This record gives sequence, C-alpha cells and structure tokens, in this order.
Amino acid sequence: MTTEEMKRAAAHAALAYVPNGAIVGVGTGSTVNFFIDALQSIRARIAGTVSSSRASTERLRQLGIPVLDLNQVEGVPIYVDGADEVTARLHMIKGGGGALTGEKIVAAMAARFVCIADQAKKKDVLGAFPLPVEVIPLARSHVARQMAALGGRPVLREGFVSDYGNLILDVHGLDIPDPVGLEGRLDQIAGMVTNGIFARRRADVLLLGTDTGVSTLTA
Ligand code: 5RP
Repeated sequence: MTTEEMKRAAAHAALAYVPNGAIVGVGTGSTVNFFIDALQSIRARIAGTVSSSRASTERLRQLGIPVLDLNQVEGVPIYVDGADEVTARLHMIKGGGGALTGEKIVAAMAARFVCIADQAKKKDVLGAFPLPVEVIPLARSHVARQMAALGGRPVLREGFVSDYGNLILDVHGLDIPDPVGLEGRLDQIAGMVTNGIFARRRADVLLLGTDTGVSTLTA
C-alpha cells in the first residue's frame, strides 16, 4: 500500500466513529482531506462540522458540508485529525501544517479525539519531527531563546503566517520522553501561543493505516 492509500484507509475508518446527528470536529492536513471527502457520503446524518483551520473550512464548504462557528456550539462529540508523530500512548506532535492553535482548541472541546495517520507517523518517542510552536511576532526571538535553552534548535518557518497572523518556529533536536511535562512547561513561555505537543489532551483512538489494513489503538 502507498502512503496515500494508508491515509485514505485510516480516514475512511473514522466514519464509523461519527455518531448520528453529531457536530463533527475536523482537523487539518492531507489525511484529514481524505476524511473531509469521505464525510460527504454521510453528510445527511450529521448536524454539521466545526473546523480547525481556514483550509479545512474552505474544503468542507466546497463540498457543501455545513461549517458552524465554534463559538456557537456547546460541545464537539467527535474530533478527527491527523498527526506528525504519535506514540503508543497516543501522545502526538501536530502542527506540521501550521494549524496547531485551531486544532488544540477543537481538541480541547472534543468528547472523543480520533487520530488518523499512516504507519510512518507511529514513533516510540516524540521529537524526531521538529516541534512546531506558534508565536506572536513580537515574541519570536524571546521564544527562540527559550527553546534553545531547552536544547532545541528553533528555525523560523519562512513565508508562513498562521490563520491568526502569527509565526511558526519549528524546533529541531528535542528529545521528548515526557510529553505531558514538556507541554505544560512550554505553555508557560510568554508570547508562545501554542505548542505542537498534544499530550495532556491526547487522542482517545488511533486509526493507523498500515500495509496490512487499519489497526486500532485506544488510550
Ligand atoms: C496540521 C497537522 C496535521 O494533522 C499533521 O501535520 C499531519 O498532516 P498530514 O495528514 O498531511 O500528514 O497537525 O497542523
């Protein structure tokens, strides 16, 4: 199976987790794009969606799938999103597509987080993928120094501005044996909007596309 086929298979498997009449939280990325396309087939049995990014909102609307304002919904029964890295404990690095802030907010509201990914994303320890952190432009150098003090090598994502007008630093060289601890520590840095560790609110289910089919892991 190709990577694309594994992503598509994981995305299709996520449809089974969508309750009838639900508002569906939709993440961002190429794997989620397969999910959005698949969601079209069950459009009639969902109440609508809430989206984590402008890119996903646009794709959903192009397919005629209603997108609600996150501030107008009280809860999100299910959130489906991809990951850049995911462990057996369902801790993740996210934000490769730069949508980490919207993703963390929708994830925080979600009753159930279903992560969809291809087998290359599964890791024993997080950190080989550079950790994305979203920063207020004024705080770029301050946050970069803080990340360097933690042993990372921050690199500004050139030419990228987030949906909220902010910058992304991709932090290389971090070993992350304690994702919950590091996520909390990074949340204390002034000027950092969001860090790409999703561990305190980890996924509840991982649907992993593999050469032999979709395997399911639960937290
Ligand atoms: C975007 C994300 C994505 O979920 C992550 O980058 C995975 O993307 P893809 O499905 O394209 O591999 O966090 O901010």
